[in-house]
Parts: sequence; C-alpha cells; structure tokens
Amino acid sequence: MKKYYVAIALFAFIGACSSNSTENKDAKATAPAAANDLSANPDYQKGLELVAKSDCLTCHKVSEKLTGPAYRDVAAKYANTDENVTLLAGKVLKGGSGVWGAIPMTPHAALSEADAKQMVKYILLLRNK
Ligand code: HEC
Repeated sequence: MKKYYVAIALFAFIGACSSNSTENKDAKATAPAAANDLSANPDYQKGLELVAKSDCLTCHKVSEKLTGPAYRDVAAKYANTDENVTLLAGKVLKGGSGVWGAIPMTPHAALSEADAKQMVKYILLLRNK
C-alpha cells in the first residue's frame, strides 16, 4: 500500500516538473493546487507534530470516528476562524462535552494555550480533505 502511494507521488512529482519546465504559462494554473497541498503549510506541520506528541490520537482519527469525532468532521462543522480556533482550543484545554455525543473529552491542562490553538489550526485545515 505504501509503495503504491510513493509511486503515485513520484509520478505526480515528475509530471509537475516536466510540465513546469516546458510550459511556464502553466505555473499560474498549478498554483492553486500547490496552495492546496497541506504539507507545505506551517500551521499544518506544527499542529500535526503537537497532536502526534500528545494523547489526541488515542481518541481521534483524521477520517474515522473513534472515541472522539473524526478531525475531518470537526473541520467540516467549524469554519477556520480565529473565534473557532479560540473556542475549540478552550475545549481541548478544559475538556468538552455534549457536542458530538454522550462521551466527554478529557481536559488537557498541561498544554499551553498556544499549543492547543496550533493543534486546532491543524484540525480545521482538514476541511474537505
Ligand atoms: C479521552 C479521549 C480524548 C482525547 C485524549 C482527546 N479527545 Fe478530543 N474529543 C473527545 C470526545 C469524546 C469529543 C467530543 C466531545 C463532545 O461531544 O463535545 C472530542 C472533541 C474534540 C474536538 C471538537 C470539540 C467540539 O466542541 O466540537 C476537538 C477540536 C478535539 N476534540 C481536539 C482534541 C485534541 C487537539 C486532543 C489532544 C490534545 C484531543 N482532542 C484529545 C475525546 C478525546
């Protein structure tokens, strides 16, 4: 399965290189696709790192409901605004309940608010992914 993805990534990469070098006019047309590539977004990278270091992934997955809602579902529910980042970071820090079902989320009092916000920014970038 992994090999398959690597092969696709490789072909996409080769394709991107050859089209860019032969036709510069295409550069503008491919820009939105590049902006859509989350791995280049520092908010995505930093947030993902923090989420992976914390206990989040014991209860959350990106695309499947576990104990907590799938991060994609969270991203679909909340627009990526400063208000929502602050609101959801507060729930990560203090715990949350009653939005997705009967199971509450445990508080994460040891996290800094900045780290909690960074994690939420990563989650909200998963909208439509
Ligand atoms: C013990 C399991 C558990 C852990 C660990 C956990 N969560 Fe959750 N999370 C939940 C549950 C359950 C909900 C749904 C709560 C509700 O219905 O309001 C939730 C909801 C959320 C929401 C949406 C809140 C809302 O009100 O819509 C976000 C964002 C979130 N979690 C982020 C995180 C992050 C970031 C971490 C790691 C720091 C984390 N969670 C760790 C169980 C967990």
